[in-house]
Amino acid sequence: MHIDLRSDTVTKPSPEMRKAMANAEVGDDVYGDDPTVNALEEKAAEMFGKDDAVFVSSGTQGNLVSILSQATRGDEILIGDICHIFSSEGGGVSVLGGVVMYPLKTNHDGTIDEEIILNAVKPDDYHKPKTKLFAFENTHGGLSGKVIDKKASDKMALAAKKAGLRVHLDGARIFNASIALNTSVKDLTEHVDSVTFCLSKGLSCPVGSIIVGEKDQIAEARRIRKLLGSAMRQVGVLAACGIVALDTMVERLDEDHENAKKLAVGLAEINKIEINPDNIHTNLVRFKVPENTGFEVADKLKDLGIMINGSYTDLRMVAHYGIDSKDIDDTIQSLAKVMNTI
Ligand SMILES: Cc1ncc(COP(=O)(O)O)c(C=O)c1O
Repeated sequence: MHIDLRSDTVTKPSPEMRKAMANAEVGDDVYGDDPTVNALEEKAAEMFGKDDAVFVSSGTQGNLVSILSQATRGDEILIGDICHIFSSEGGGVSVLGGVVMYPLKTNHDGTIDEEIILNAVKPDDYHKPKTKLFAFENTHGGLSGKVIDKKASDKMALAAKKAGLRVHLDGARIFNASIALNTSVKDLTEHVDSVTFCLSKGLSCPVGSIIVGEKDQIAEARRIRKLLGSAMRQVGVLAACGIVALDTMVERLDEDHENAKKLAVGLAEINKIEINPDNIHTNLVRFKVPENTGFEVADKLKDLGIMINGSYTDLRMVAHYGIDSKDIDDTIQSLAKVMNTI
């Protein structure tokens, strides 16, 4: 048995993607000459209803480039305190860009209260950094893939804009949100200025993320991407996968959500596991095991051929392309066996 539930980043390209890679028309993208990259960027901008888009190497780079194209040394950004950008990207905006991150309390549903956003905006005072941007995350990885709907998302974005801030969305899994909500990414991101989304997670591409936004911001993003050494040349071989992903891999995310729900319902029946299946809406399944047993549980599952993300008490499994309903049954059965030994 080999079932890898560590992340949706472990997905491999579909046969159609491999064919598209082999046949991709390419050119030097630094000169703007790669027709496949250009087509992918145009397609992404159109899907999100934004002016323009730029292909980048990863979600981390997408967030970094997005923020550094809208805030500079000595500026401050307001950011959810359990957002990936704040907790898991090496502090890149501060390390590389001199941008201060000011964390805001995140509610259990992934939202941040309007008054918390507004109260965090600094007055025009030379003791203070200049507050430039507000960033949030949808779906929320730290909250088991929680989906923020349009009303709640617009409320945060419009509050930040009322205070004169730019708004960036870490939409690494925004297509999971749009599928779960049965709405378009365009509608869901209407009031944000820039979005990063990942091709290499649930959409199963081997590499790549895209930033969509306004014309001037994307032009600046291209400059920052170059400065970071990540302007690439015949990158149409990767962009070709992105086009296939946007055409063929979005609707199927529903299958991952169904598998995740089934997994959560199964886990809830197992002794010593803490999870509420009602909180699982997309593909991420977080659950708790008795204190300090997480690594032992993960190791024992690995011995049975199932890989998951382990920590002391909180564990994570992710449904994705390549995982089917039978894999979910096998995982539930195996975990039940393991938990009897804990
Ligand atoms: C919400 C979120 N944002 C950004 C990233 C970063 O993406 P990457 O691993 O491509 O740098 C991740 C990665 O898991 C993520 O979960």
